[in-house]
Amino acid sequence: MAKPFTCIFSFFATLIFLPLLPIYAQSSGKIAVGQSLSAATNASPWLSPSGDFAFGFHQLPTNSNLFLLAIWYAKIPDTIVWYANDGNPVREGSKVTLTADKGLVLSDPQASSLLWSTSDDFSNGNGVSYGFMSDTGNLVLKNSSSNDPVWQSFNHPTDTLLPTQIMEINGVVNSRLSENNFRKGRFQLRLIPNGNLVLNTRDRASGYNYGAYYISGTNERPNTGHRLIYNESGYMYVLRTDGSTYDLLPQNKTNPTKSYYQRATLNFDGVLMWYSIPKTSISNGWSMDQALPDNVCTSIGASGPQLGSGICGFNSICVLGDDKRPTCKCPPGYSLLDSNDTYGSCKPDFKADGCVEYAQRSMKNEYRLERLPSTNWPFSDYEKLGPYNEDDCKMSCLTDCFCAAVAFQDSNSPICWKKKAPLSYGRQDTKVRETTWIKVGNVNFSNDPLNTFVPLFPPKAKNKVKSLDKFLLGGSVFVNLVLLSAISLGIFLIYHKKPLKEFEEGQRKKLREYNSNVHCFSYQELTDATKGFTEELGRGAFGVVYRGMISTVGPPICVAVKKLDRISHDADKEFRTEVNGIGQTHHRNLVRLVGFCKEGDQRLLVYEYMSNGTLANYLFGELRPSWVARIQITLGIARGLLYLHEECSTQIIHCDIKPQNILLDDNHNARIADFGLAKLLVLNQTHTNTAIRGTKGYVAPEWFRNKPVTVKVDVYSFGVLLLEIICCRRSVCMEFIEEEGAILTDWAFDCYQSNTLDSLVNNDMEALNDWQRLKRFFMVSLWCIQEDPSLRPTMKMVMQMLEGLAEVPKPPCPTMLSITTTNTKPLG
Ligand SMILES: *[C@@H]1O[C@H](CO)[C@@H](O)[C@H](O)[C@H]1NC(C)=O
Ligand SMILES: *[C@@H]1O[C@H](CO)[C@@H](O)[C@H](O)[C@H]1NC(C)=O
Ligand SMILES: *[C@@H]1O[C@H](CO)[C@@H](O)[C@H](O)[C@H]1NC(C)=O
Ligand SMILES: *[C@@H]1O[C@H](CO)[C@@H](O)[C@H](O)[C@H]1NC(C)=O
Ligand SMILES: *[C@@H]1O[C@H](CO)[C@@H](O)[C@H](O)[C@H]1NC(C)=O
Repeated sequence: MAKPFTCIFSFFATLIFLPLLPIYAQSSGKIAVGQSLSAATNASPWLSPSGDFAFGFHQLPTNSNLFLLAIWYAKIPDTIVWYANDGNPVREGSKVTLTADKGLVLSDPQASSLLWSTSDDFSNGNGVSYGFMSDTGNLVLKNSSSNDPVWQSFNHPTDTLLPTQIMEINGVVNSRLSENNFRKGRFQLRLIPNGNLVLNTRDRASGYNYGAYYISGTNERPNTGHRLIYNESGYMYVLRTDGSTYDLLPQNKTNPTKSYYQRATLNFDGVLMWYSIPKTSISNGWSMDQALPDNVCTSIGASGPQLGSGICGFNSICVLGDDKRPTCKCPPGYSLLDSNDTYGSCKPDFKADGCVEYAQRSMKNEYRLERLPSTNWPFSDYEKLGPYNEDDCKMSCLTDCFCAAVAFQDSNSPICWKKKAPLSYGRQDTKVRETTWIKVGNVNFSNDPLNTFVPLFPPKAKNKVKSLDKFLLGGSVFVNLVLLSAISLGIFLIYHKKPLKEFEEGQRKKLREYNSNVHCFSYQELTDATKGFTEELGRGAFGVVYRGMISTVGPPICVAVKKLDRISHDADKEFRTEVNGIGQTHHRNLVRLVGFCKEGDQRLLVYEYMSNGTLANYLFGELRPSWVARIQITLGIARGLLYLHEECSTQIIHCDIKPQNILLDDNHNARIADFGLAKLLVLNQTHTNTAIRGTKGYVAPEWFRNKPVTVKVDVYSFGVLLLEIICCRRSVCMEFIEEEGAILTDWAFDCYQSNTLDSLVNNDMEALNDWQRLKRFFMVSLWCIQEDPSLRPTMKMVMQMLEGLAEVPKPPCPTMLSITTTNTKPLG
């Protein structure tokens, strides 16, 4: 009766069952060819010389008829560190034999079949002479005429790494499926070819890797990471090509390996945990030294939306325990899809079959909302409503058959996110600012006799013992968790007094780098892509832009490669950060950054190619674009700016809005280019107005007045641009320099006051026929070019006024406050 519990009750077992552990005989660790072991209860394993490690058949704690071919700590109960046969257990009587030509061979005598072997063929003049179970936990197969092992378990890690173990590029550690199921689980630790050590989730069926939830950040070329080393002192680090190291353990704490057993295990719940135990008092059980990531529930998805369900299953909520390990819980009205898989998905207990007769059902108060504080499923949104109050937010979900939950964030302008099923990446954490309301049916569909899928009651209790067993098992896991929590709470109070805030911030940054689609190109790749920088597309404030074709990161795409030539020294340090910031912006009215190159002195940015050139060419070319097209372009630019100012994660002030920086894609949609680069632009020493980042004619007056630069500088430039779009002419026209109308911004207000708008638009009948809109656009532009920044509207207000959703008041004279008008005259 005690056996099934020893493994589950690792902590308890050490206290209670310790005397029952077999005391193995001394061993040389050497295994001769021809020696074999059979799977049986109480069969003795092959031991390392010190007796610390054992190799053999380990009886499964959950089923005493099944055995796992494994390596384990012989003196510590139930600490399996390596397993063969992909974690599949074998029947009693199965046999492992050391052979010269195939190494270790696992076979099932009853079926007389070979189940697993270390190799299909060692016989190419390099067979096995003997095996050796070492004191480091490494099982080594050797040919006596060579020093290098023919095979070693350290090169084929399962879910655990041990001191002295090294993992090369492409090395993988896979979590188990659950505490007692050793098949490959949903989490991986990998050293990927770019030099980063990552933790990621994977799809179990296909093996597809989802986004990472930890990144070491050791991919800076040329000193990329190339090995993960767990050295014999118990330090774990990524070794870079220049010999420098990136430490994973310790963050202060390493116990000497002489007096402590140590291991790093990727737990089945996705947390990489370093454990230690004093050799002299193993009865206290393993203590947890450090967890990676620090908060697995919030680290996952820190870089943005991803596929998969997250740490827990779909519709489930990840809650971090005091032991830094997650538990998963179903929201109210939901229960586990597989009652045995507590980390799995949750199914609704109510009828959630979409929109069939939804109106009637919701009328009958069939649904209600349950409040979940500090909880969110951040990647299940399908609508964002705001500003919106909490009641409206809830009501909009209750009356919407697509809505599974709403998250509400209270602030000055409260926002409401509607979420669709299945909900993914759920987490409950004090850091989560949203309150989520989940929609729950009032009728327990699981109890509905018409529902044939979920039985009303469990099938007739076949035998009471079994269900009692189940109960006990469940209970013990619970007790175990509570105990572990208690122990680890203690540990973490000692070692993690401060939340590792900086560490987390750095992590989030790195994650963004890895998961954003911004690719790091080599200079050679870009030289090839642009055929040696031959086809010039244009020259701008930052350098020359070339056309190129990239095929290294997916299907071939046409790109514009911008060679930056004026990066200031200080800005260069920020280059990566800025580039990653830019890479995070995704909007249909922004030109997408595909990648970058930072090599030696070279700084290049790779953008998607815009086939229809700049707005300047379109607007000031021979043919006047249609009024309708100009309206669309105006709204597109406004949307793009609104996104940069208010909707992306960090506010971006463009500082150089002008028609040369607006590009047109295949469908003549406006796309803003060069955003986020203002910070990188070095002061231009050759011009007189050194501090101005921007282009004459579009630059807001505050640049000249040492006033703080805010988003309103973009609003000003947008106003000038809007005038140009309305009139199809440049804001500063040198040909008319002595005439009335040389400076569009001045002339515009004159026209407005004298009511001669038609002369301004040069008798554009199309526009004049759309008089209300024309006037509205015109007035908005006059608001935008107000000299006093505080008078200018925000882009949000601009958007509302352009769309006719808000009234446009009568604009004052833009230069009312100015002392002189130098700032609106052509500069230089
Ligand atoms: C060990 O390797 C040598 C050649 O490298 C080979 O001749 C010998 O047969 C191998 N020993 C065994 C036991 O296979
Ligand atoms: C293990 O790594 C640590 C940190 O890099 C170093 O201080 C220590 O000397 C190393 N131990 C051995 C045995 O190499
Ligand atoms: C680690 O050690 C440094 C000083 O060596 C100390 O300032 C820091 O608080 C320690 N961190 C933790 C988590 O104990
Ligand atoms: C619905 O009924 C099932 C089966 O009786 C039960 O397991 C579940 O907890 C119930 N759900 C709710 C929300 O009452
Ligand atoms: C849960 O596990 C038990 C024993 O492992 C098994 O008999 C039962 O069928 C499982 N239940 C489900 C729903 O898979």
